[in-house]
Amino acid sequence: MRVAVVGATGAVGSTMLGVMRERTFPADEVVPFASERSAGRTIDWGDVDLSVQPLTEESIRGFDLALFSAGSSVSAEWAPRFADAGAVVVDNSSQWRMHDDVPLVVAEVNPKALEGHRGIVANPNCTTMQTVMALGPILHEAGIERVVMSTYQAVSGTGQKAVDELHRQAEAVIEAREIPAPAVYPHQIAFNVLPQVETFKDGDDYTTEERKCMHETRKILGREDVKVSATCVRVPVYTGHSVSANVQTVEPLSPGECRELLAKAPGVVVVDDPANGIYPTAMDVAGRDDVLVGRIRRDPSHERCLNLWIVGDNLRKGAATNAVQVAELLKVRGLLRAAAA
Ligand SMILES: NC(=O)c1ccc[n+]([C@@H]2O[C@H](COP(=O)([O-])OP(=O)(O)OC[C@H]3O[C@@H](n4cnc5c(N)ncnc54)[C@H](OP(=O)(O)O)[C@@H]3O)[C@@H](O)[C@H]2O)c1
Repeated sequence: MRVAVVGATGAVGSTMLGVMRERTFPADEVVPFASERSAGRTIDWGDVDLSVQPLTEESIRGFDLALFSAGSSVSAEWAPRFADAGAVVVDNSSQWRMHDDVPLVVAEVNPKALEGHRGIVANPNCTTMQTVMALGPILHEAGIERVVMSTYQAVSGTGQKAVDELHRQAEAVIEAREIPAPAVYPHQIAFNVLPQVETFKDGDDYTTEERKCMHETRKILGREDVKVSATCVRVPVYTGHSVSANVQTVEPLSPGECRELLAKAPGVVVVDDPANGIYPTAMDVAGRDDVLVGRIRRDPSHERCLNLWIVGDNLRKGAATNAVQVAELLKVRGLLRAAAA
């Protein structure tokens, strides 16, 4: 199998390459792609040196699989070209996620959605990904009427420039120097909390990230009737998104039953002994593939509502690991070929 990794020099792309090695992904050849700026650079991939290629009509030929993480505009232009040239694309950007003929897949939650794909498969938004890892089993067991989610999102979700901005600002505050003006975010992120993740588009009073959380959650769960409300917040954390989710079920579900259910769910680890200070934090999850869930408790204002605290590594399960898991599913299920139109 020949595999293209598009955006291989970026935060998600380099994590995908690492995850492929860790999982001994069955590729015969891996070719990294990035912008013209990086063409010719060498990537050390274990015992192999990979040479970064630019995207051209010639260079994209002959692949079985293409893992994309180069942003929406690159995916808009190049994912269909890879698909036309015979590859199945797994795309991390938001470009294709809500298209009707593009499956939006979380490996443990809705793998069946891969069947009948037309050459492009989308990887969900990182915050949505970790949240549905907990919501999927609950939906299955007790049904879900409504979810209210508030997110606490790490700066690495924006990319390396945002990590650098937090670092520089934090250093300046600690050293009592003039704080560099924000360039990536609209306000200072160091020692601050910003109730804005991405942009307010076309006068909408929800951000594009909040809209993604609401729409993508319903699509992955396969339930347009589930009501979802999201508030997305950027916090000065390097890696690991946290989500506070209030989940209203159809059938009664006790906190104990929910704990048991999630403890059995693949890819989820319950960390829930708050009296002893044991609950998931962003620091615990950085570098891990599991989604950690804790603080599982009854909402005192509603007999069929539970509150959950869900933490995931935005670069791993929130992006790279799920993309590689989806690629593995495509291979194992014989789906490395688009269904006929
Ligand atoms: N960071 C996260 O937690 C996260 C989570 C889920 C999804 N995503 C999505 O994944 C995508 C990548 O995010 P990231 O954080 O990895 O970004 P990033 O660190 O900025 O990396 C972007 C990558 O895209 C490449 N690229 C840029 N312009 C290109 C072009 N014209 N042609 C080919 N390659 C080009 C870059 O190559 P150069 O190095 O040559 O510039 C780099 O390899 C985005 O769509 C993002 O929304 C990110």
